[in-house]
Amino acid sequence: MRYLIGADIGTSGTKTVLFDENMREIASESAEYPMYQPQNGWAEQDAKDWYDAVIKTIKGVIGKSGVKGEDIKGIGLSGQMHGLVMLDEDNKVLRRSIIWCDQRTEKECREITEKTGEKRLIEITANPALTGFTASKIMWVKNNEPEIFEKCRHILLPKDYIRFMLTGEYATEVSDASGMQLLDVPNRCWSDEVLEKLGIDKDMLGKVYESVEITGYVKKDIAELTGLKEGTPVVGGAGDNAAAAVGTGIVREGAAFTTIGTSGVVYAHTDKPVIDKKGRVHTFCCAVPNCWHVMGVTQAAGLSLRWARDTFCEDIVKRAEESGKDAYIEMNELAEKSDIGSNKLIYLPYLMGERTPHLDPDCRGVFFGLSASHTKGDIIRAVMEGVSLSLCDCREILEEMGINADDMTLCGGGAKSELWTRITADCYGCDVARLENEQGPALGAAILAGVGTGIFESVEAACGEFVKKREKIKFSEDAHRKYERVHEIYKRLYGSLKEDFKALGGM
Ligand code: XUL
Repeated sequence: MRYLIGADIGTSGTKTVLFDENMREIASESAEYPMYQPQNGWAEQDAKDWYDAVIKTIKGVIGKSGVKGEDIKGIGLSGQMHGLVMLDEDNKVLRRSIIWCDQRTEKECREITEKTGEKRLIEITANPALTGFTASKIMWVKNNEPEIFEKCRHILLPKDYIRFMLTGEYATEVSDASGMQLLDVPNRCWSDEVLEKLGIDKDMLGKVYESVEITGYVKKDIAELTGLKEGTPVVGGAGDNAAAAVGTGIVREGAAFTTIGTSGVVYAHTDKPVIDKKGRVHTFCCAVPNCWHVMGVTQAAGLSLRWARDTFCEDIVKRAEESGKDAYIEMNELAEKSDIGSNKLIYLPYLMGERTPHLDPDCRGVFFGLSASHTKGDIIRAVMEGVSLSLCDCREILEEMGINADDMTLCGGGAKSELWTRITADCYGCDVARLENEQGPALGAAILAGVGTGIFESVEAACGEFVKKREKIKFSEDAHRKYERVHEIYKRLYGSLKEDFKALGGM
């Protein structure tokens, strides 16, 4: 039997899964690490923590399963996108990584737009300058820590730093590189024009591969540390959302998925680079060679419900702890007792500002319509509905761009809730499928490793064989019409509050 490893270097931790060649999970290991917030709106992580987590979990799955290193035929990496890792000439990490959710670079975004021209920047990188993306983080270091920028010889993304540590190669692949804002996304190569205008030396960036290509081979020291065989191929892999798309089987035009995880994503596969001229959704290369994806992001999706649990549901959490049940089960039961529209209560999920559709770091969460008659169940349901309506905003932009997002699969923690799945289907006005067995980006990364090492013929063929869906949850016409009325008010609220959000932020 041949085996494959998928390792997903996420924000809260790394998950490494060992699969056999039929993509059955043989062993899985996770390791967590901290996120540092030295100032309000800043977010950093230690690259050494990612490395330690990857070594520990690879060693863990091999040890636990008893599978021999020589039978593991390939490794695929996936990970949080956009994070900046800088190395000096001795490959030493120069500073903590500034990661995707860090919001410190508004000034640098304006600088990037001025230097490249707004229209040209979107034409080349397929996206407007965004605080989350890597280019503005590089410019921030250049402007604020010139002594560090001086010493920088290599710039890598989180999972590509791990690739470097495993193989010694400075490399990336198209899906993650798309989120750096330095890639010519339609042509899938570094943009000399953008690099020159921003004064970033191309030699600092790794070689760009397709996600299924072999980028290097496991070094001897890593083999000794982990139990892998020296020379095991490491393929390109993908950014977490592009890898999740493979793990969800969204690899053909016309297919889309929604994730309700900490953040929420509405993702559609496209055969051509389709760009929103207003930049409200991201267009990136995807993990299928010569294909792209378009994606809208809700910053606080599952995060909103977790916040509601921790803030309003102490009694439920306590009961859950005593009974060994998940607190979300009782929260769902309470929300079921409320009705569509949560008895006239609307929630805007902008706890962490918002990307799609507003691109506004200043907006914040809102409960609109609170009355003395509202119950905890109404509040919980309003949070779920507000997140689903925000995802609706993302989906509507895709439709406006001519992308059909009707063939929809829901995944992430939100898909575990029947109610939240139904709310999402009813808000969208389309049926929603779920996966039989959800393994997330690690499965996608392992499939990419299988394609790259010749075990599978293509990404599409492997997904067809291994990704299985459950029966679709059907939407209700009547509920959809009711949600359309709620959505109209929901959308007006942001417009009414936009200036007040700014004023509040400036207080
Ligand atoms: C995508 C994004 C997040 C990160 C972290 O643009 O910022 O999905 O990849 O998961």
